[in-house]
Amino acid sequence: MFSPTLLPFPQIVTPRLVLRQLTEADVPQIFFMRSDPGMMQHVKRPPHQSYEESLAFITMINNNVDENRGLTWGICQHGQKEIMGTIAIWRFDNENYRGEVGYQLMPQWQGKGYMTEAMHHVIAFALNTLKLHTLVGHTDPENHASHKVLRSNGFRQEAHTRQDYLFEGVFYDTISFGLVLPEWELTGTKIAAQ
Ligand SMILES: CC(C)(COP(=O)(O)OP(=O)(O)OC[C@H]1O[C@@H](n2cnc3c(N)ncnc32)[C@H](O)[C@@H]1OP(=O)(O)O)[C@@H](O)C(=O)NCCC(=O)NCCS
Repeated sequence: MFSPTLLPFPQIVTPRLVLRQLTEADVPQIFFMRSDPGMMQHVKRPPHQSYEESLAFITMINNNVDENRGLTWGICQHGQKEIMGTIAIWRFDNENYRGEVGYQLMPQWQGKGYMTEAMHHVIAFALNTLKLHTLVGHTDPENHASHKVLRSNGFRQEAHTRQDYLFEGVFYDTISFGLVLPEWELTGTKIAAQ
């Protein structure tokens, strides 16, 4: 049975980025990413209405770490304190050594390969260090940038599920991408564990 110990919080360093734990100081960026209509276009969740809600969100995320239920990293450039985005492995299916990835990057940082880089190292951590066997990413069918990030990191489309997600009175489709450990090891996407 998968039973990870997520503390101490595993900071990850990549060539351009530091992936670190979220703190109260990240409330403005989290609020923007969780309320801006452009950011939320493909993330079908109720937008945050206040900084208090974003602070509660950060608290919930950090409780998940304490309780070994999921990890969310804030993404920073080297030497910078402000986060550019977040990336997470969560919704662990412990019996099946399975986790889900989630991610978002503020618009001024998009299209520069930062999320692809962050994802590459988070996958290595999830599979090499945590010893998960599969990862899944659920996406909006129209979220082509997200599909590209997943495909670039060795994920393959596994399902197009029709109208499985109800949000604000509309049923939306989901495209799910999967990554399996043996294939990842074979396809050259494997990198050394952090
Ligand atoms: C999804 C997201 C994280 C991608 O971030 P990003 O900075 O664009 O990621 P990267 O630069 O690492 O890679 C994106 C790739 O998709 C491509 N891309 C961007 N927009 C695209 C589009 N509309 N159609 C096709 N490809 C697109 C980029 O050119 C890039 O390709 P490359 O690797 O060949 O250069 C970002 O768009 C985002 O935060 N969106 C809002 C939140 C969200 O949708 N999260 C995902 C939920 S599943």
